[in-house]
Amino acid sequence: MAPAAPGTRARRQGIDAAMRVLFVCLGNICRSPTADAVLRKRAAERGRSVEVDSAGTGDWHVGSPPDSRAIQAAARRGYDLSGLRARQVRRSDFTDFDLIVAMDGQNRADLETLRPPGNATPITLFTDYGPADGSAVPDPYFTRDFEGCLDLIETCARGLSRMYARPS
Ligand code: 4NP
Repeated sequence: MAPAAPGTRARRQGIDAAMRVLFVCLGNICRSPTADAVLRKRAAERGRSVEVDSAGTGDWHVGSPPDSRAIQAAARRGYDLSGLRARQVRRSDFTDFDLIVAMDGQNRADLETLRPPGNATPITLFTDYGPADGSAVPDPYFTRDFEGCLDLIETCARGLSRMYARPS
């Protein structure tokens, strides 16, 4: 059995529980739902034990499906985003997840302002698991580059799952 990653629920409880990962972007309709679907599919295909969700720091799109362009781009690579619905980050996310992964520095700064006092859940940048020169997943809602966004998300998901995911 693989050892639990530092700071995870599995380590706290002394059992081989699934790693819980929350992806966060601004609107929760482009980047973070795409990352959610990519990591979820990768974990399922490789028998990795991970629970994945996504949320936005903003509330404009709460209850809405992902952007249709994100749904279509992901579908072309075999990812199904159609059942996802946007939600806003909530305080309980900081205790419900072992790791919170932000898509850019503004998302991470916004998350830090929402962090409950005393909470120490790691908040990382998704690009920490990708190319050395990356410091953000550019927002395709503005750039319209949904393919490039998917390329980067697939690379970062590969790096993240290598670092954290455990066999189920
Ligand atoms: P996301 O992209 O953060 O990747 O979901 C955005 C989608 C919508 C908006 C901003 C970013 N918006 O301002 O409506």
